[in-house]
Amino acid sequence: RMPILEQCYNLMDFEAVARRVMKKTAWAYYSSGADDEITLRENHRAFHKIWFRPRILHDVEQIDLSTKMLGTKVDIPFYVTATALGKLGNPEGEVVLTRGAKKHNVIQMIPTLASCSFDEIIDAAEGDQVQWLQLYVNKNRDITKRIIEHAEKRGCKGLFITVDAPQLGRREKDMRSKFSDVGSNVQDTGGDNVDRSQGAARAISSFIDPALSWKDIPWFLSVTKMPILLKGVQRVEDVIRAISAGVQGVVLSNHGGRQLDFARSGVEVLAEVMPELRRLGLQDKIEIYIDGGVRRATDIIKALCLGATGVGIGRPFLYAMSAYGLPGVDRAMQLLKDEMEMNMRLIGCNNVNQLGPEFIDTRGLSMH
Ligand code: FNR
Repeated sequence: RMPILEQCYNLMDFEAVARRVMKKTAWAYYSSGADDEITLRENHRAFHKIWFRPRILHDVEQIDLSTKMLGTKVDIPFYVTATALGKLGNPEGEVVLTRGAKKHNVIQMIPTLASCSFDEIIDAAEGDQVQWLQLYVNKNRDITKRIIEHAEKRGCKGLFITVDAPQLGRREKDMRSKFSDVGSNVQDTGGDNVDRSQGAARAISSFIDPALSWKDIPWFLSVTKMPILLKGVQRVEDVIRAISAGVQGVVLSNHGGRQLDFARSGVEVLAEVMPELRRLGLQDKIEIYIDGGVRRATDIIKALCLGATGVGIGRPFLYAMSAYGLPGVDRAMQLLKDEMEMNMRLIGCNNVNQLGPEFIDTRGLSMH
């Protein structure tokens, strides 16, 4: 029998339930990684190489988890990252995540390839709720320009251009489960010439422009006032280049292990990037986010100690939504919040904005 929601005590528990109750094709699409799934496996494990150096006797009665991301105040330093095809897991799709994000005052990044239409996801937001847009750049720039202008008009507060997917990775689990239900929104956003024989990912991605390059960045800056961020950066040289290109942030990410296998985890790249930015005095020129394998509040705390502004979380909320709908998403977020408060107390820090390298021991990162 399916465990009741109250029996999920951490984010991994939602994954175990989802695996049992989800349709096979949906599970294959959500859970798969590229090739041998080595990067997928290492994303969470990389956090295990970092240990804490807690501080004692520091008044931790009151804990403040709130921070700012691109100028927006959030209650806890994570956001719901963009994951395509929400209706595979839940008939209501991405709007379930919108409602969960509202309840916990965190930001949702809307995927280009959502199952709900972009406007449905915007309309599901309430009050001053903030959403960002993840962008796959179409070979036809007129389509891309329309998407950007529409997002800005509807109040999106950030544009995250995915730069790690000039070609979609081979997710063999997904390819084996022949995929048929692409959904109408996906066709609208550019899924022309859909080839359904190669799994969900490949079926929807043929419009993405592999010729996208640094030369295109000025064009993006010229067509929108939204902050622009590059999602999927994997080395410090590219972070520095992003700063000179004038973008406002990067997400150190390997796309949840779904693109280049043997790409390093976001947290390892972060440990490479931050000392170099500090050495060059560039650390305040750009906001750095990471995603991939964040499952515990301690993962979030470690990323903030290294210098990230916040972290993105993908699959856990998809699994929670697929298994239990909105109550699942709500509980997953609440569990993270509770874990976060407790662990902040235990390391002796009462404000996430005061986390820094002195709270962690990263010597294990260079050991393999
Ligand atoms: C993704 N991700 C993703 N990224 C993106 O830029 N555009 C997209 O359409 C998608 N779609 C997508 C679907 C699914 C099912 C997954 C699991 C992931 C990548 C996502 O934004 C993020 O980088 C990872 O999901 C983070 O890793 P975790 O939290 O899933 O481990």
